[in-house]
Amino acid sequence: MRILSGIQPSGILHLGNYFGMMKPSIALQEKGEAFYFIADLHAMTTVRDGDKLRGFVRELALDFLACGLDPSRTAFFRQSDVPAVNQLSWVLSTVAPMGLLERCHSYKDKIAKGVAPSHGLFSYPVLMAADILVYDSDLVPVGKDQKQHLEVTRDLAIKFNEIYGEVLKVPEPQISETTATVPGLDGAKMSKSYNNTIELFPEEKALRKKIMGIKTDSTPVEEPKIVEGSTLLTLYRLVAGAEEVVAMEDSFRAGGTGYGEYKKRLFEAVMDYFAPMRERRAALQADTGAVDEILVAGAKKANAVAEEVMGRVRKAVGL
Ligand code: ADP
Ligand code: TRP
Repeated sequence: MRILSGIQPSGILHLGNYFGMMKPSIALQEKGEAFYFIADLHAMTTVRDGDKLRGFVRELALDFLACGLDPSRTAFFRQSDVPAVNQLSWVLSTVAPMGLLERCHSYKDKIAKGVAPSHGLFSYPVLMAADILVYDSDLVPVGKDQKQHLEVTRDLAIKFNEIYGEVLKVPEPQISETTATVPGLDGAKMSKSYNNTIELFPEEKALRKKIMGIKTDSTPVEEPKIVEGSTLLTLYRLVAGAEEVVAMEDSFRAGGTGYGEYKKRLFEAVMDYFAPMRERRAALQADTGAVDEILVAGAKKANAVAEEVMGRVRKAVGL
């Protein structure tokens, strides 16, 4: 079974990305042949600075490897290192009905957030379909926000096959409805667009400052605190052990402890949780060239599959 997923290098990764996407993808490596890529072509729809994009790609690669992506079993590569993706994207765009793309809400959502309306942003789902179909992917784990894109991918594969014969494999989505949304510093969904993130590997001092800045209510120290919907507790549950979580919940209900103390505990739990990953990240960072070698090897593996699939496509369409 081939498992495929991608993530855009469009900013510095945060705890929401880790618990919502990276951790589950890394766990899935065991279940089949995983292909995970850095969607640098997609990121160009929002990042318009070459140095910045290169920087985000490198940071993202370091983060993923530090968090447990195992390059000896998973092909890890840059989207742009597989030229067949662009060619398939064009081929698919010639069969993609305009109405289907016009119905995609991500284009409208992104424009509403201030992203420049470009043709690339509009045709984003076609490129994403090419990403998936070019590797004969069986399973595509993504968050809820990508559900419609997976439906477009399936529609395009079916449409292509209707016209040209059974050439493309129709993939199955795996939508992680269960992964709860990680809240940000202000309690809203943690997102780089909302300026409320806790980055994955910040300096210790910066992390402490961020966590001490989490928005809390004005319940006095002596009084009980509200457990339901507490951002502090929600984050703590992600990084602390079961007993520590119960202890904090009990303490919330009992009152007598201020939010400052809970924030300190959360800070320590985050530091402990990510300590082994921080160590791995530092080692990788010091080994200049290691990350590039991994991405080049991953691209080689990806290109071998992509070229085979594209061979079938070219033959079918007459290229
Ligand atoms: P952002 O919202 O910061 O722009 P992206 O949209 O680039 O993040 O998301 C990349 C991946 O991380 C997606 O799979 C998305 O579902 C997941 N993700 C992002 N933010 C969160 C969050 N707050 N909680 C859970 N998952 C998240
Ligand atoms: N669109 C995805 C996101 O914004 C990233 C992505 C690009 C992707 N191509 C993909 C995810 C192919 C899964 C499969 O998160």
